[in-house]
Amino acid sequence: MRYYHLLPIISIILITLLIHFNSLSQDFTKETLEQKSQRLKWWSESKFGLFIHWGLYAIPAGKWGDKNHYGEWIRHEAQIPLEEYKKLLSKFNPVEFNAEEWVQLAKKAGMKYIVITSKHHDGFCLFDSNYTDWDVMSTPFKRDILKELSEACKKEGIKLCFYYSIMDWHHSDYLPRREWEKELRPETGADFNRYVEYMKNQVKELINNYGPLGVLWFDGQWENTWTFEKGLNLYNYVRSLQPDIIINNRVHSNNIESKDTKVFPIGDFATPEQTIPDKDIPKGYWETCMTMNKHWGYNEADIMYKSTKVLIQMLIDIVSKGGNFLLNIGPMANGKFPPQSVERLVQIGEWMKTNGEAIYATNASPLGKPSWGRYTVKYLPDKTILYLHIFDYQPRQKIEVSVETKPTKVYTLLDKGVKVPVKLKNKKLIVSLPPINNPDPNATVIALEFSENPFNK
Ligand code: GLC
Repeated sequence: MRYYHLLPIISIILITLLIHFNSLSQDFTKETLEQKSQRLKWWSESKFGLFIHWGLYAIPAGKWGDKNHYGEWIRHEAQIPLEEYKKLLSKFNPVEFNAEEWVQLAKKAGMKYIVITSKHHDGFCLFDSNYTDWDVMSTPFKRDILKELSEACKKEGIKLCFYYSIMDWHHSDYLPRREWEKELRPETGADFNRYVEYMKNQVKELINNYGPLGVLWFDGQWENTWTFEKGLNLYNYVRSLQPDIIINNRVHSNNIESKDTKVFPIGDFATPEQTIPDKDIPKGYWETCMTMNKHWGYNEADIMYKSTKVLIQMLIDIVSKGGNFLLNIGPMANGKFPPQSVERLVQIGEWMKTNGEAIYATNASPLGKPSWGRYTVKYLPDKTILYLHIFDYQPRQKIEVSVETKPTKVYTLLDKGVKVPVKLKNKKLIVSLPPINNPDPNATVIALEFSENPFNK
C-alpha cells in the first residue's frame, strides 16, 4: 500500500510502452488512398528536388589506375580492396563545404526538397553515427555534414530527405560479398540479421537526430539477402518512428520503374531512373531521378552536361505526366558543386521565378501530349487554370486546345499585360500566340483561366 503514490508514474510508463509496441506492430501499408494523399501532399505539390551523391568517391573523382569513367561505384567497378579504399578516409577534407550555400542554390533553382546520400553502397556515412567509425567524424574534416545541412534546410524552408543504401560493401555482417573480394573478405562469421539491426539503428539516428525528415529514399535493395518481409518490416519500422514520413519503393521492389502500386506493394512512390515514363497513371505517385551529366557521384572527366533547356523541358514533361523531378549533383571533394551544375541551377531558377506557378501544385495534363509542348493544370476552389508550355514559340502560330468553354482570362506568364487572342471554333479553343518581346527559348507559358472545370472532372 505504501506504493500507491507511484501508481500515476507506473501507468504512464505502461501506456508509453503500449503505444510503442502498438506502433511497432502496426501495418502502415494499410492506409486509405485519402490518408496517403494527405501524407504525400507536400511532396506531390513540390515537383522539383535536388539529389546529392556525395562521399569518399568524390576524392578519386572518377579516376582509378588508367581509367576515368568511374563514379560512386568505383570501389566495386575498379575492384578496390577495402583496406585500400579505406585510405580515402584520411583524405576527406572538404574545407569549402558550406551547407547554407548548397541549400540556397537548391532554393534558388526552385527546388523544394533535398535528398542526400547519408550512406551509399560503400557504407561510408556522411553523419555522426554511434554505430560505426566509417563515418565523417573519422575524417580530418570531423564535421557532421548532415547536421549542418539539416540546420540550413530548416532555416531556408527546404525539406531534408535522406538516401540510404541497403547494400553495404563495408559492413562485415552485410551479405553477399562482392564476387571478386570473397577471398579477401570471407563470409565466415557474418550475420545478416545483425546487419539489419545496424541499419535500423542508423535509420533511427537519422530520424531522431536530423528529422523530421521528408523522405527516406532507400536503394541497393536488389541482392538476394533482401526479402519482401525485410522490406515490409523496415517500411513499418521507419513509419513507426515518424508516421508521416514518405518512403520510396526501393525499400523492397526490384521493379523500380513501375508506377503500378500492385507491382510494388511496399513503398509510397515509384523511382524511374534516368528515364521519363510515357504517361501518367492515376494515383500512381512517381519521381524520375536523373543525372545532370552521366554520373551520380563526381567525375571530373564527365563534361557531358544536359543543357538548361533540356533540363527545363524534362521538368515540364515530368510534371505534365503527374511526376516529380529529382535532379542530381555530385559535389567535388573540396565541398563545392561543380561550376557547370551551379550554372544550370541558377538558369533553371530564373525560368522558375516566372513560370513556377505552372509547375508547383499542378496536376497531370488532362489533354495528353501536344506536339508544340506540354500542358499542366491547376484545380483551385474557384477556378481551373490550364497552362500551355510552348517549347518553340512562334508568334501568330495558332494552337488548338480541346475544350469547349471560353476562358475568363488568358495571359502569358512572361508579361501578364499582353493580350492573347482566343476564339471557339468547331468545339475547340483556338489560341493565337501574340508577338512578344522575348519569348523564352526554354518554354514560354500561357495560362488559360476557367471559372469552371472545363474537363468535366
Ligand atoms: C542506382 C545506383 C546508384 C545510384 C542510384 C540513383 O541504384 O546503384 O549508384 O545512387 O541508382 O537512383
